[in-house]
Amino acid sequence: AHKIILDTDPGIDDAMAIFFAFQSPDIEVLGLTTVFGNVPVDMSARNALTLCELADQDIPVTKGVGMPWVGPESTYAHFVHGDDGFGNINVESSKRELDPRSSAQFIVDMARKYPGEITLVAIGPLGNLALALRLEPELPKLVKGVAIMGGAAFVPGNVTPVAEANIWNDAHAAEIVFAADWELTMFGLDVTNAVPFTPDFLKELENKNEKLGGFVNKSAQFYVEFYSQNRDDRVCFFHDAMPLAYLIDPSLFKIQSGHARVSTDPLNKGQTTVAPAGTTASPLWLEAATINVAVDVDHDRLRQLYLDTYAK
Ligand code: BDR
Ligand code: CA
Repeated sequence: AHKIILDTDPGIDDAMAIFFAFQSPDIEVLGLTTVFGNVPVDMSARNALTLCELADQDIPVTKGVGMPWVGPESTYAHFVHGDDGFGNINVESSKRELDPRSSAQFIVDMARKYPGEITLVAIGPLGNLALALRLEPELPKLVKGVAIMGGAAFVPGNVTPVAEANIWNDAHAAEIVFAADWELTMFGLDVTNAVPFTPDFLKELENKNEKLGGFVNKSAQFYVEFYSQNRDDRVCFFHDAMPLAYLIDPSLFKIQSGHARVSTDPLNKGQTTVAPAGTTASPLWLEAATINVAVDVDHDRLRQLYLDTYAK
């Protein structure tokens, strides 16, 4: 099984992704490292503990970065994920204790413990990964790779015309993470906004797994409501599960490599621009790190993988 650390800001689609990882026999979750994002970091950490308790998982949960690398405290996405981050479903918060380490320290400790074995899966803003790189400059050599939900390479953004939320929330941290010398694969809106999930799918997830699928179905009602404001159909998007699906079955995705940059310019803050690998358009591009970008996904097989995995 793939050893992973799941860096997260739960969040409705984070919850769906976390349960998916717990359910998969191909994934071993060494810990949940939390960060601000959809909700403030204290709530993010508490929510992660609550999800572990619901799923009967006794793994470390850490609290991490609570502010962007540069600039003031963020605004949060309660209008997408509810006051509680779970669509206002009145779930009782776990009383479990956090691991005392910071998220960044935990990442470094685990990478040293299992050199070359861990994939960092980041499904929130990238402050913890950026800080871990500062704590341990050799981190890129110590991990197997990085898979993130974030960015929008060839499609519009969801916070601004050009920026996706996770990258926009901490663009300076994202720039550090993208530029580091590790194998980074990006699952951005290019693929995550391409696969809508209907209320029927949510119901089916509950039928497969009453407890965990039931939680997701219940909390995603608010999420569907949010997405329906700007569309004629009733659907939602499970952005955060995609990098995990890739680890389980890479054949679901079409991946392209390219030179990537994250903008920290106020106007297009958080824009992820990708030029084809080896582009000769400008020597500046060749200096930008090479990353992998998911550009297409097999919708039907992805939906089936979610259902089958929740059913286990
Ligand atoms: C990303 O932003 C958050 O709202 C979601 O949890 C996901 O990680 C989508 O842009
Ligand atoms: Ca998230």
